[in-house]
Amino acid sequence: RFVAVLAGGLSHEREVSLRSGRRLSAALRSSGLSVAEWDADGHLLERLRAERPDAVVIALHGGEGENGSVQSVLDVVGVPYVGADPRACRRAWDKPTAKAELDRVGLSTPDWVVLPHTTFRELGAQPVLDALVERMGLPLMLKPDQGGSALGARVVRDAAELPTAVVGCLSYGDTVLVERFVEGVEVAVAVVEGEDGPRALPAVEISPEGGVYDYEARYVAGLTTYHAPARLDAAGARAVGELAVAAHRLLGLRDISRTDAIVSPDGSVHFLEVNVSPGLTETSLLPMAFEAAGSSVGEVYAQLVDRAIA
Ligand code: DAL
Ligand code: MG
Repeated sequence: RFVAVLAGGLSHEREVSLRSGRRLSAALRSSGLSVAEWDADGHLLERLRAERPDAVVIALHGGEGENGSVQSVLDVVGVPYVGADPRACRRAWDKPTAKAELDRVGLSTPDWVVLPHTTFRELGAQPVLDALVERMGLPLMLKPDQGGSALGARVVRDAAELPTAVVGCLSYGDTVLVERFVEGVEVAVAVVEGEDGPRALPAVEISPEGGVYDYEARYVAGLTTYHAPARLDAAGARAVGELAVAAHRLLGLRDISRTDAIVSPDGSVHFLEVNVSPGLTETSLLPMAFEAAGSSVGEVYAQLVDRAIA
């Protein structure tokens, strides 16, 4: 079997993707597959036509790798790939859309408002921010509505920090997602599809040393402590697993996803987002979940390649 691993790309998460791609390629090779590592550049279409891999595994993060664009190219060429189709990717990639889907069926997600950059221009920044604090209170979590690896995201505990936080978001996109900040423990729950449908793996608990799980805390080893499985009681572990499977199904995802959620001190669980191309770097969450489930990157992805080709 000849598999192309797509990594790199043009998004802000390019460096992360190159790390994911390297690890994934090595893992697939050790599972016995023949692997080519491709940068997802302007030659992708020609390359797919010329080399016709049996399947593609997307290790791109952010932008075209998660918003369905690359998946559309693969559909056009007719090359099977691991992961969700373009429409499902688009819905998962846009955080407000994903939140609305879960909210619609009664699953909890932090209250939110969406502020397109035009709002600030039309109404003036200060009136918008004043109204925001009046309506939502503090603390708030601000993030780009589409993005990853916490780039541009920031917790705001004091209204004076809002303008900086907004500028941070708008430097990564044109719309700010504002959520009420929910206190609790952050967990990540992988969902993998097999013969018997989507199944949640043990949750991974995230404890950043500095309290904030930002880009550095994600990718510099030692800055965050992880517990896999998460230190939840049986009911909590079940609840986060059910939430992740529900998100995967509701958004019409395929093969693999990772749902990020908060478990509050009262045990309630709150959906933050779902990722269609989760990180696979040395400090990423998915490989920890695989290990906690007694498996590995190579084993899981080799199975998913089989599913994609079948
Ligand atoms: N966006 C990063 C790669 C993740 O979700 O793991
Ligand atoms: Mg993400």
